[in-house]
Amino acid sequence: MNVALGVGGGIAAYKAAELARALMRHGFTVSTVMTKSACEFVTPLTFAALTGRKVITDLFGNRSADEILSSSVEHIEVAQQNEILLVAPATADLLAKFAHGLADDFLSTLYLAFRGQVILAPAMNTNMWEHPATAANVATLKARGHRFIGPDAGDLACGTVGAGRLVEPELIADAVAACAGRKMDLDGETFVITAGPTQEPIDPVRYITNRSSGKMGYAIAEAAVARGARVILVSGPVQIAAPLGVEVVRVRTAAEMRDAVMANLEAATIVVKSAAVADYHIANVPDKKIKKTAARVTLDLDPTVDILAEVGAKKGDRLLIGFAAETNDMVAEARRKMQVKKADMIVGNFVNAAGTGFGSDLNEVTLVMSTGETVPVERATKKDIAHKILDHALRLRLALHSAR
Ligand code: CTP
Repeated sequence: MNVALGVGGGIAAYKAAELARALMRHGFTVSTVMTKSACEFVTPLTFAALTGRKVITDLFGNRSADEILSSSVEHIEVAQQNEILLVAPATADLLAKFAHGLADDFLSTLYLAFRGQVILAPAMNTNMWEHPATAANVATLKARGHRFIGPDAGDLACGTVGAGRLVEPELIADAVAACAGRKMDLDGETFVITAGPTQEPIDPVRYITNRSSGKMGYAIAEAAVARGARVILVSGPVQIAAPLGVEVVRVRTAAEMRDAVMANLEAATIVVKSAAVADYHIANVPDKKIKKTAARVTLDLDPTVDILAEVGAKKGDRLLIGFAAETNDMVAEARRKMQVKKADMIVGNFVNAAGTGFGSDLNEVTLVMSTGETVPVERATKKDIAHKILDHALRLRLALHSAR
């Protein structure tokens, strides 16, 4: 879900940087819009670096006529692309502008163009907050259905004590997540998730690997963190950045992946094995590069340890989710692997389905459960599929517990 974070010009503007991070930990995509005076307190670069996105600072600013013309509808685009407009700190000036429909900068123009949910976290001096003008503006904005978070009472930067402090960023982010209907249903769970391929060395310069991108496992890690879980992500070599808030253990070979999973198993309540683990490796890797000759070469491969099966044998109360990438008989193969490896759910997918699977942002899977149920999940982004897998995992665990 997308949040436009409007930052007003008050001393609390620096806390909005922390707020941007807290929102991202909840899984929100954050686009920052700063008023001119907010830029006096904290630089746009701070928000650009934290959110990884362009920061909008003013409707006209120092831009050339060409830039202004090409971006003249930017406030409409930002209004359409975001489901929530959160303004923090919302200054007395901004509240007045919003209440009266003034539109003399980007943020106030965006406010008028915006049709989603508006959340305001005010911060100002107590007298300003208690002034009848501000109180009337707040009443107008509340009557429009906008949600207020705070202000808190306490020591203010201006040296007085009273109402007017910005609510702590973490609490604002929690409240925004609650407003957005974000489920925090994985609070208290610890996930161990494996993702990506493994690399099995042949010699110091060559290795055997596969086409897994790690995107599905990373999407599950991101979704689980957004829903309140602690996530330990055991990752093979991939080209994607770790989601915020996830603890990453980087490994290369199947043996390293096995050791990292076992070292963290004790803490886990749910284990997700989405990695494409190599089935074979070379037991005695030469320490010198194999030289080319005219002769035919044969590689001697030994089986790797099956991590899913080992976890299955030791899983106790943990919920165990495996994956099966198949080219034929997907459901039957997934069910066979589930039984042999003692998993509770296998996420099966056809690797040769056009436009999905390896490297793609889309996927189409079938969830095969130990209860006998089979749930097809139609083509969607890996992010959406990740949330569906988590929804079904929780439902499955309830069913398994009540069947005991
Ligand atoms: N898996 C594992 N350790 C291995 C091989 C596989 O933990 N050494 C896990 C994968 O992470 C996945 C599941 O087992 O969750 C199924 O993997 P897959 O490669 O589809 O199955 P295999 O048992 O290797 O069978 P095959 O390759 O013959 O289909």
